[in-house]
Amino acid sequence: MAEAAKVAETQLGYFDVPNREYVITVPATPAPWINYVGLEGMLCGIVSNTAGGPTWFRDPLERRITRYVQVGCNKDRPGRWLYVRDNETGEFWSASYQPVTRVKPDAYECRHGLGYTKISSSYAGIATEMLHFIPVGEHLEVQRVVVRNDTDGERKLSLFSYREFVNCTAANDLTNIQYSGHLAHVDVDEGDSRIMYVITRQDGWRPLPFFAVSEPVAGYDTECDVFLGDGSIEDPQVVREGRTRNSLVGDDTAVGVFQVDVSLSPGEEKVLHLILGVAEPRDKDDAKAILGRWLGKDEKVLSALEELKSYAGDLLSTFQCSVPDDHMALMVNTWNAYQCWINFQFSRSISGYATGLGRSMGTRDSLQDLLGYMHMSPDGARRRILELMNAVQLQDGSCQHQYSALTKEGAGEGGFSDDHLWSVLAVAAYVKETADIGILDEQFTYSDNRDLSEDLYHHLLRGIRYSFNDRGAHGIPRLRSADWNDTLGEGPDDEVSESVLVGIMLVKMAKDMMRLTELSEREELEVEHDGQQLPVLGYLGMVADEATEAVNGEAWLDAGWYARGTDSKGEWFGVPEREEAKIFLEPQTWAVMAGVADRERAVRAMDSVHERLFTPNGIQILTPGCTVAPSGGFHIFPRGAKENGSIFCHPNPWAVCAESILGRGDRAYAFYRAILPPAASQPAPVHYCAEPYVYGQLRYGSEHRQFGKCAGTWLTGTAAWNYVAATQYILGVRPDWEGLAVDPCIPADWQGFSAARKFRGATYEIRVSNPDGVCKGVKSVTVDGEPIDGNVLPVFGDGKVHRVEVVMG
Ligand code: GLC
Repeated sequence: MAEAAKVAETQLGYFDVPNREYVITVPATPAPWINYVGLEGMLCGIVSNTAGGPTWFRDPLERRITRYVQVGCNKDRPGRWLYVRDNETGEFWSASYQPVTRVKPDAYECRHGLGYTKISSSYAGIATEMLHFIPVGEHLEVQRVVVRNDTDGERKLSLFSYREFVNCTAANDLTNIQYSGHLAHVDVDEGDSRIMYVITRQDGWRPLPFFAVSEPVAGYDTECDVFLGDGSIEDPQVVREGRTRNSLVGDDTAVGVFQVDVSLSPGEEKVLHLILGVAEPRDKDDAKAILGRWLGKDEKVLSALEELKSYAGDLLSTFQCSVPDDHMALMVNTWNAYQCWINFQFSRSISGYATGLGRSMGTRDSLQDLLGYMHMSPDGARRRILELMNAVQLQDGSCQHQYSALTKEGAGEGGFSDDHLWSVLAVAAYVKETADIGILDEQFTYSDNRDLSEDLYHHLLRGIRYSFNDRGAHGIPRLRSADWNDTLGEGPDDEVSESVLVGIMLVKMAKDMMRLTELSEREELEVEHDGQQLPVLGYLGMVADEATEAVNGEAWLDAGWYARGTDSKGEWFGVPEREEAKIFLEPQTWAVMAGVADRERAVRAMDSVHERLFTPNGIQILTPGCTVAPSGGFHIFPRGAKENGSIFCHPNPWAVCAESILGRGDRAYAFYRAILPPAASQPAPVHYCAEPYVYGQLRYGSEHRQFGKCAGTWLTGTAAWNYVAATQYILGVRPDWEGLAVDPCIPADWQGFSAARKFRGATYEIRVSNPDGVCKGVKSVTVDGEPIDGNVLPVFGDGKVHRVEVVMG
């Protein structure tokens, strides 16, 4: 590998740019550094850099296949482990460091790629390589193992696989052991002891998980207690003695241990496959048929990996850029886009911090995730919008807070003041991306009234009407259970507290809704309000105007920022008179994004953000942290943690968008860089702790003893919004109603950049030059050599490549 390919190298790893891999060079990372395998709706898994992580089928709560525990000192266990035993010396170790961590590998490398992970290590002259992935369209997780003898003498080895099975739902598995403990059951195939069947006994669990190895086995074990014997997971008796006992599990913990004995002459290598799959329907013959197609078919396995790489490459090819910042380039071109794709698939269900036991698909979360993904798969976005809205929206216009990935049914309470508004934003973004205004005609029902069917347009309208009708004493929508900030609010029945953020969002959504009304030619519609029938555009205009006036009239502060809301006594918070939480980030950014603030207020509000909330590690959500929260209960977190004053990363890119709108490219970029993972994780990656290739939910704030440390990676709205901020606001390649706008806002010292964007059936190769060293402003645009007026590129839809030259100034 050429040195130049290594970017952001630290003592823990580096980015291999041409191969689109992050290479971890030490096994004991400060936290499990994970990756995902599998596609939504299929078999899926998490694979850490020590091969830790669970596998599930469609839903990590209801259809868990292997166990993983994200809490406690033993994090990152169990995993898809392989014990290697030298049968001459009796010494044994792990091919992926865990769980025999007392044996340090002589060499180690983990390569996380897009949907696959390869872990290589070497000990005592024996090299192992374990590749993990799930082929596109298949319900099977492949672990391709290569073992090589790098010594001069013949080596006799035994390999022991390890999987820990869950025989019921993930929740029962952890919380109801008197029940789940009796369900443990694994059958070994009567004719072929290379195949195990995991017998699950939960209701409605039709498919049959199986686990198999491609080589003849010396034996197997399925009972954990027998496998461990007088030892432990670091020192299992079976491995120590080199002899499986052919145990059949009857209760407690079911495991998948195969023993494969291999002799390797000097330089010789052996390839074997361990496959964890699911046969649907529940049928052992089906399982065998699937295995017949894959097990030991190494060429097929390797070509399936290539197919996966090109699948991922195609998704990412929708937007690629070349910019004078290596870190930004590799995030935009690969890792941030990949994280958006993963978020689209798994919402907030399972990660290193989401256990897969609680929230499945979050309403507001998934709607925002769409913003960073829909250009990669507009069809997928369309399906998701309709599926989600059908699942969660209530007849009064508000939404349930989440829905099940498995049943597609709404779950959790309603009563949130923001969930429904994000749907307008997501649909507007979808229409800007695709021009598919027909989506508004899709008919479906409400979660609490399956007899009432209306088109998507009316669903969105009900959302806006809900917020407009639910305004409090200051003409600002009520806060209810919470708004975007989950930790504010006193509950669904609180009639007093108001949310300035929702007031501002309402303006933006009403304006977008006006445009959707015009584009879908629904101007004739009327809306009933206060006993009157109003033309819909008049109504929406009134919503936007009244909400703008209320926010500007009531919530703007002489101090130079917007208040955050009122508490359950009707008192303002997010104001300088309070001892704590004097200023919050969210309303300042959204006031600019929604056009609620005029230029002067916008500049003052964002200057306040810069002065009071910006730190070298990113922008804090509020300051100072609270001992008593003015609303809700976020003071339960120490100051500087979570919503109590951390650098909550999700709203950070809102500030990037706001500064870009204001044309202050240097500041937008400084905000962007402050939490950009490859940059932020240096020079102290151990303190930063999290993976340098994906965004986290937060970094601890300046009042916290772990200031700058990052937590909660992968499944977070930070991903989509940073992608939007980078591509649509800094680079300014932004889908708009009429076409693709090019409206960059860059650092003044950038001489230019280029980007290739697929949009509505054509590819635009855009070169931007900045001869005058400005941050914002487009002087001229030519498309295929012809000048155009303005900066919105024509829609071609002809499948061709069009060259665009943009000169800033
Ligand atoms: C978490 C939640 C998200 C919420 C945010 C702020 O990230 O997943 O829904 O908006 O916290 O409270």
